[in-house]
Amino acid sequence: MISKIKGTQDFINLDLFNFIIKNSKQLFEQYNFSEIATPILESLELFKRTVGEHTDVVSKEMFIISPPNNQDDNKKAKDTICLRPEATAATVRAFLENNIATDQNHTLPWKVFSFGPMFRYERPQKGRFRQFHQINLEVIGSSNISEDALLIFMLNSLFRESFKLENFSLSINFLGTKEDRDNYRKELILFLNNNKTNICPTCLTRKDSNPLRVFDCKNQDCQDVYNSAPVIIDYLSQESKDEWDNLQKKLSILGISFVCNNKLVRGLDYYNKTVFEFSSPELGAQSAFCGGGRYDKLATMLGSKQDFPSIGAAIGIERLLMLLENNINNLNIKPKPALTVIVPIEPEQNDLALLISQNLHNYNIYNNIILDNSSVKSMMRKANKLGAKYVLLIGPEELASNKIKVKNMQTSKEQDVSQADISKYILENK
Ligand code: HAM
Repeated sequence: MISKIKGTQDFINLDLFNFIIKNSKQLFEQYNFSEIATPILESLELFKRTVGEHTDVVSKEMFIISPPNNQDDNKKAKDTICLRPEATAATVRAFLENNIATDQNHTLPWKVFSFGPMFRYERPQKGRFRQFHQINLEVIGSSNISEDALLIFMLNSLFRESFKLENFSLSINFLGTKEDRDNYRKELILFLNNNKTNICPTCLTRKDSNPLRVFDCKNQDCQDVYNSAPVIIDYLSQESKDEWDNLQKKLSILGISFVCNNKLVRGLDYYNKTVFEFSSPELGAQSAFCGGGRYDKLATMLGSKQDFPSIGAAIGIERLLMLLENNINNLNIKPKPALTVIVPIEPEQNDLALLISQNLHNYNIYNNIILDNSSVKSMMRKANKLGAKYVLLIGPEELASNKIKVKNMQTSKEQDVSQADISKYILENK
């Protein structure tokens, strides 16, 4: 038997998955976001330039697809493609490539969402997959900090009101501008050099490649050291400080509870200013089910002459699914419409069964035919398993008399109904 690839999963029942997508779409459209879709395949270069060569995502976790062997090495390097690890870089690429900023049919900020599979070659564990799904949202082309507050408010409403979640928290931090971070980075490296002997080898490497990422370390000894590390907030310019205060004020005005977490840096290089994460203790070690932030320079990283300051976020669908499974009784999931099951008893009645099915479909009545032509008992058992409300039994007698035996599976009552009136009967007795 061939098994699925490690870190992937089959979705055999998509009811809850689709509930998430449907309710998210509904809310996002209410906030005037429109849906887009970008390819799953992108150039590796796209993520190297934006997410960053030294991030775990790009340096360790990419699924790279090499072009065919008959191309020269130079062309190969340029053409190397990968399975997308995230959607932000691709959304900005699409924004630039489709000239959205100057297109008469669009206004800025461009508010878009998409959903689909992402790929990261991570060590699989609870809530961490190699193929996972995100709902991704971007607000491209606004530097107004009110957009940050509005996006966070919308996400908070989605989790609290649409999905009735209560056991989660929102952490926010402010990474300032590049200049703020350059000043901070110097102090942080000094601190890390002074504590070289007390931190793990991974943090030692990050110290030189990407020092802010040391805060993501899961090692408790390292975290104890970082409790006394300098914090970014102390290195913000006055303008950045004002923006950070402003954001917190706006969130408070909107009635959103949040905690400020100075160690929240997020694992992707394109962020500046606002970063945030929604997490829940119900998820265990991989507790974040939504993360995002501002990325004011990403467009220029991709070669745009103009900056398009932006903010966005992505929801991890697998993790949200875990939370909703714990909370399923509080959700307003619409039951499926009642099912009518048609049971021809012998092959001679199959054609009539097909015609009856067609007639029911003309009236939008959900129905299924059991074409086993096995014993009535076993077909009735199957109809029951399918959740039939009505079973339409068609045997030789029914065929001859233009009637159908209708069994109500809830009351066990049986009634003969003329074939011509069958759809009317089902609709009237819904
Ligand atoms: P991210 O924090 O890397 O951000 O991913 C967002 C969410 O995707 C995480 O909070 C988590 O729920 C889920 N996730 C990430 N990796 C995995 C995995 N291996 N298995 C299961 N779930 C996972 C981004 O991807 C940014 N592009 C978000 C963003 C949009 N920032 C601005 N705009």
